[in-house]
Amino acid sequence: MTTFKIAVMPGDGIGTEVVPEGLKVLQRAIEVTGTDAVLETEHFEASARRWHETGETLTDAEMERLRAFDAIFFGACGDPTTPSGVLERGIILKMRFGFDHAVNLRPSKLFPGITSPLADPGEIDFVVVREGTEGAYTGQGGVLRQDTPAEVATEVSLNTRYGVERTVRYAFEKAQSRRKKLTFLHKHNVMVHAGHLWRRTVEAVAAEFPEVAVNYQHTDASMIYLVQDPGQYDVIVTDNLFGDIVTDLAAAVTGGIGLAASGNINVAGTAPSLFEPIHGSAPDIAGQQIADPTASILSGVLMAEHLGLTQVASAIQAAVEADLAERGDTPRSTAQVGDAIAARLG
Ligand code: IPM
Ligand code: MG
Repeated sequence: MTTFKIAVMPGDGIGTEVVPEGLKVLQRAIEVTGTDAVLETEHFEASARRWHETGETLTDAEMERLRAFDAIFFGACGDPTTPSGVLERGIILKMRFGFDHAVNLRPSKLFPGITSPLADPGEIDFVVVREGTEGAYTGQGGVLRQDTPAEVATEVSLNTRYGVERTVRYAFEKAQSRRKKLTFLHKHNVMVHAGHLWRRTVEAVAAEFPEVAVNYQHTDASMIYLVQDPGQYDVIVTDNLFGDIVTDLAAAVTGGIGLAASGNINVAGTAPSLFEPIHGSAPDIAGQQIADPTASILSGVLMAEHLGLTQVASAIQAAVEADLAERGDTPRSTAQVGDAIAARLG
């Protein structure tokens, strides 16, 4: 019997509604597959609610305690009354950086039964490997002469050969296990310093994967191709900020952010990886039990795969796909969707 310690962090808004469904389905899948594993869960409060009450986000002591966990199952954080950046930097980026989540893995698949906003989407099935600890996200920079007409602000994009290489290698490994096609997105025609570090790294790692076909696209041009010919992609690799942008469009063309899951992966296994829906706390629909928990449930698939629970992962994936194929337009509550997917597990 293997025990997995899972830190559960529902957060705010619909995060608190979808995370219980993700866990419910995971537990059920462990039971029905007869997997000899136990998820030992512990709740962590990381939310706008807590920040309003105490001024705390995630404390350093909690970060230390979290290190002992096998994975973190996260919902979403934020509400309209919290200043922009406080929770992003104090919770989600604190964990991505602190737990060295080199890869932000974001699958994009147009499932049967799901309507894409594209008129002729074709088959869409790719994964984005987004660098997770560097780029424009590191907070390098500052402000001078604030609130004067001469105000200056810098936001430096930080790129290390080490950080880029481990992300690129992960992307090649993914491509090798899939359709063997890797598309590298950047703007190395303009961002010549970071862009060429990335380009040289992709070229160097490509030599280790002769079977993988590599191509390069400028990120702006990829916005066109993602709409006109999304079927061309298998694995996309890119930096933190481009990856953030690309994955929202990728979610939109595959039926919406309600279905988009992600994993923030510590590739060396030195700290817990974190699994979360790409969507946020959605305060406009929070508290009404109308949020779609599918992205959280699919984040559970990524977590199960990461923990080596492959049967659990594939059982949930199949149950989700069956539900999506038949869900139609009948409105269901958040819990009803979770129950329906759990019931399909048997
Ligand atoms: C995402 C989100 C985050 C990001 C925010 C909430 C910090 O947009 O996970 O895509 O920018 O990475
Ligand atoms: Mg985003």
